[in-house]
Amino acid sequence: MTAGFVIAVDGPAASGKGTIAQRLGRELGLPVLDTGLLYRAVGVLTERAGVGLDDEGATAAVAARLDPAELEDPALRTRGAGELASRVAVHPAVRAALLDFQRAFAARPGGAVLDGRDIGTVICPDAPAKLYVTATPEVRAERRWKQLSGQGEAVAYDDVLADIRRRDARDGGRDAAPMTQAPDATLLDTTEMTIEQAADAARRIVEAARARWERSRG
Ligand code: DC
Repeated sequence: MTAGFVIAVDGPAASGKGTIAQRLGRELGLPVLDTGLLYRAVGVLTERAGVGLDDEGATAAVAARLDPAELEDPALRTRGAGELASRVAVHPAVRAALLDFQRAFAARPGGAVLDGRDIGTVICPDAPAKLYVTATPEVRAERRWKQLSGQGEAVAYDDVLADIRRRDARDGGRDAAPMTQAPDATLLDTTEMTIEQAADAARRIVEAARARWERSRG
C-alpha cells in the first residue's frame, strides 16, 4: 500500500516524461527516480563486464549488485545505453532484481515521483496519480535527436527514428511488464505541445489527482 503521494509517469522514449517528472518533483518538493537509469546502468555494466545481454542470469546478477551511485554516470545518457537498457529490460529476473529498490523509493514517507515504463502497472499499481505521456515517433525522434546533438553525439535523424521505433516495439511487446498505459492513468499526448504546455497539463492532472487522494483520506 502506498503511504505518501506517489506520482507514476510512464511512457515511451523522448515523450517528455522525464522532464515532466523532474518538474513535478521540483514543484511539489518530492524526490524523483528516473527508473530508465537503472536499466541503462545494468545494460552498460553488463556490456563492460563482457557478458552477453541475452544471458538472463548474468544480467540479473549485475542488476542485483547495482550501486545507486552509478546512476550519475553520464555514459548512461547516450544513445547506445538506451538500446542496451531496452535489451536487458526484457528479462524478468533483471526486473525482479530492480523491484525492491524502486518500491522502497516510492515508499518514502512524503511521497515520490517515478518515471519509467511500468510504474503505474507493476511498480506502484496503487499510486494516487498516474500519467501516461506519449507523442508520435517522429516528434519524439526529433526531440531525442536535438538532445543527442546538444550532448555532442553526432547522429542522423533517421537513425534516431529507427531506434525509437525498435525500442517501442521491444518495450511494448515483451512479456515481462510491457510498456502500456495503466487503466487508471491519464493520457497526455505531448505531440503538439511545448515542454511548458506539457508541464502545465501534467501539473493540472496531478493537482486533480491530489485533491481526490486527499478527499479519500478524509
Ligand atoms: O526511459 P529510458 O529511455 O531511459 O529507458 C531505457 C530503457 O529501459 C527502455 O527502452 C526500457 C527500459 N525501461 C523499462 O523497461 N522499465 C522502466 N521502468 C524504465 C525503463
